[in-house]
Parts: sequence; C-alpha cells; structure tokens
Amino acid sequence: MSRVRKAVFPVAGLGTRFLPATKASPKEMLPVVDKPLIQYAAEEAEEGGVDKLVFITGRNKRSIEDHFDKAYELEVELKEAGKTKLLEIVQNILPPHVSCIYLRQAEALGLGHAVLCARPVVGNEPFAVILADDLIRGAGQGVVAQMAEAHERYGCSILSVEEVPRDETHKYGIVETEPGPNGELRVTSIVEKPAPADAPSNLAVVGRYLLTPRIFDKLEETRAGAGGEIQLTDAIAALLHDEPVVAYPFKGKRYDCGSKLGYLQAQVELGLLHPELGGDFAQYLRQLKDQL
Ligand code: UTP
Repeated sequence: MSRVRKAVFPVAGLGTRFLPATKASPKEMLPVVDKPLIQYAAEEAEEGGVDKLVFITGRNKRSIEDHFDKAYELEVELKEAGKTKLLEIVQNILPPHVSCIYLRQAEALGLGHAVLCARPVVGNEPFAVILADDLIRGAGQGVVAQMAEAHERYGCSILSVEEVPRDETHKYGIVETEPGPNGELRVTSIVEKPAPADAPSNLAVVGRYLLTPRIFDKLEETRAGAGGEIQLTDAIAALLHDEPVVAYPFKGKRYDCGSKLGYLQAQVELGLLHPELGGDFAQYLRQLKDQL
C-alpha cells in the first residue's frame, strides 16, 4: 500500500465568519499565539510523513505563499542584527525535503471543487485533506500520522470524526456507522449539515480526511448540493457505493478556529501551554479572575 506523501490544503474559502479580519487576508493566516493556523497544519502534515503540500488558493491568499517562501530581506536584516534565534525560526518554517505547490481555484465553488482542483498534482495516490481552521492538538502524535496508521491498517479512506452536541449537527458532515470486521467504525451513510432532527448520529467529520484517489471520479460527477456548493461530503457518499470508508475517532483536542469562540479558546489553551509564555500567562489569568 502506498504511503501518504501529499496533503491538500483547501484555503480558497471566503472566511465570512471572521469578517472583517478576513476581508484582505486569509483566515488561515490568523495567528494562534505566534504561528499562523496554516503553519500548525503544515507541521502536522510533515510529522505524518507528508513531503508535498498542495495549497488550493484563491483571491487574497498571497500571504500564504509568502509565508512558506524564503524571506531574503528579512533574513539579511536578522543576520546583520545578530538575531540568530529569530533567523532560525524564519529559516525553518518547513524542513528542506518538504515542497509546496500552489493551485488556484478561480471561483469558490465549494470544498469538493477545491479538492478536485488538486487532481493533476495528486494523481493516483491516497492523500490527506487538511482544513487548517480546525486546529488539532494531537495526543501523542498528530492526526495526520494517526490517520496514516489507520489507512495502513484498513486500506481505505479515513474520515476523522468527533462526537458533537446534538444541536450542532447542522455545522458538520454527519456519519452513520456500523462495526467493521476489525473493530473499526465503517461508514454506512454521510450527510452534510443535517438539522438535529434529521441527523443519523452526532458523529461529526472534522477537518482531516485521508482519501483514496477514486474520490476524484466521484467529485467529477458531483453536482452542487447544500448551500449551492460542490460538497466533498456528497462525493464521499458516492464513494461508499464502491469502497469501504472508515470513521476514525482521532486522539487529541480540536479547536474550531473558523469560529470566534473556538479561536479564542485555542489562543488561551495554546498560550498556557507555550514553553516561554505559559507561566506568565497563567499568572495573568489568575490575577484577572480575582479582579472580575
Ligand atoms: P468553510 O465552510 O469553513 O468556508 O470551508 P470558509 O469560506 O472557509 O469560511 P466561512 O464559513 O465563510 O467563515 C471549509 C474549507 O474549505 C475551503 C475553505 O478555505 C475551508 O478551508 N474552501 C471552501 C475552498 O477552498 N474553496 C471553496 O470554494 C470553499
């Protein structure tokens, strides 16, 4: 079975829930403590064995390309100022064996359409799809590494899932599952953003997928669905007719950084965990609590 070497980052969405912050710059460049969301996602992919990062970009996304490019002037300035620690940080955004490919999605026609744009680069291999606004602190290892292991075990597409409160099913793709022969959760159906009353379960697909290349055939045939967008969920539903798909309850904690509350929670928790800032930040929060 082929190793997962490519990850697709659909970053062409409009990020409307975060306006006005996302008017001129991408949601994926919002920082959590000191790193943009997209860098957390790229690091997770690299840790999972990926060495080709495929970004599906759109208008106003230039800063993502700049972030992963070499920054000559900045490097010269830092070198001349003797700021070696900072120089190291900007030079090591990605390890040298990892390369970036940028493709444009000319029109934001939906997540499914964005993934289909990656077909010429991904070719006939299994690949990961990472939505950077779901920031996940993996337990032990990152979620891409966890999914790669699950893919090796079950040999099929893997959807990372998490239980969500019933009244939030309308925000997610929701799966129905049955036990598979090896204790895995086999997906029997999937539906995009169902109302709580119509949801087949409260098991939600989060922003991490590992897909077999057959999904591209299904995406080619997928018409606009919920919200007038070409939905990845609909193509996965079609894939279920041909291949098994496994729902994988990932190990770790997810922050929905596409929502303002989730983003603030990520700032606080990752701030507290930060090796240099954590202590001072915890003290600040304690003092703040006493004041309120
Ligand atoms: P979302 O549904 O979160 O949409 O897209 P969005 O535009 O990013 O944010 P809101 O809801 O308007 O605030 C899910 C993922 O799919 C990508 C987005 O960039 C995001 O990572 N996407 C969505 C595309 O790349 N292209 C599209 O046409 C639509």
